[in-house]
Amino acid sequence: MAKIIGGITSSHIPAVGNAISNNLQQEPYWKRFFDGYGPAKEWLKNARPDVVIVVYNDHGLNFFLDTVPTFALGCADEYFNADEGWGLKPVAPFKGNAPLSWHLAESLVEQEFDITMCQEMKVDHGFVNPIRALYGDHEIWPVEAIPLAVNTVQHPVPTARRCYKLGKALGKALESYPEDTRVVILGTGGMSHQLQGERAGIIDTDFDLECMDKIATDPEWFANLSNTDIMRIAGTEGIETIMWMVMRGALKDDAKVIHKHYHAPISNTGAGVLVLDNEAE
Ligand code: DHB
Ligand code: FE
Repeated sequence: MAKIIGGITSSHIPAVGNAISNNLQQEPYWKRFFDGYGPAKEWLKNARPDVVIVVYNDHGLNFFLDTVPTFALGCADEYFNADEGWGLKPVAPFKGNAPLSWHLAESLVEQEFDITMCQEMKVDHGFVNPIRALYGDHEIWPVEAIPLAVNTVQHPVPTARRCYKLGKALGKALESYPEDTRVVILGTGGMSHQLQGERAGIIDTDFDLECMDKIATDPEWFANLSNTDIMRIAGTEGIETIMWMVMRGALKDDAKVIHKHYHAPISNTGAGVLVLDNEAE
């Protein structure tokens, strides 16, 4: 049986990818941010997932504004990164797990989540940077990865509650997978940021810290927020934090908080790391 051993959240800021490529982790601007991943990396070493399901939003590398699926699941054996701008150097391709993806697709559709199935899917910084922050760079990645893309770009965007419910359905889908597979769910994006318009650059640290607490221990609080509420407080791109709720929904209600770290600003964004253990007593 597949087992969800835990969940992690991470922002997916492009500048983080460039900092890793240029080995800047110990520089004053970056040190505290990257140190925040230390306990998550330690936890991963013991947890030894076979597969990480990465919940992220595509920013225009694979989908463009003419066609944006609300939820899209990678169902391929391999996923390629590519030049998406930001000065980011494309990284090595990621090995997928197509049999698990197809099982998830079947179960999710049965549970009334009519996701788009992608047999080819280029993955952008939303997917790549959190994996790089947690595992470092590799020519052959030490874990299989399955992309689950959520539309946070083209309105109407799904609500936090819908994402939470998707997480619950994902958890059920994994429970019924017959192979012994250890799975971590990685929710990416957020926290507060807005990249354009009059309000660009504003970060709400108090709101971010409250979100981190509540998503970990009282996810109903976040599920009750409307997208308008979230964007008003956290900015238009702050809506990305809804993807953390997919991770949260997939885990047990009483999953144990192993680690929590927040740093702002990195680039234009408040950056949070959460680690929840689904198996701890
Ligand atoms: C930034 C953050 C993002 O989530 C993103 O997708 C692009 C840029 C930033 O802070 O610069
Ligand atoms: Fe983003």
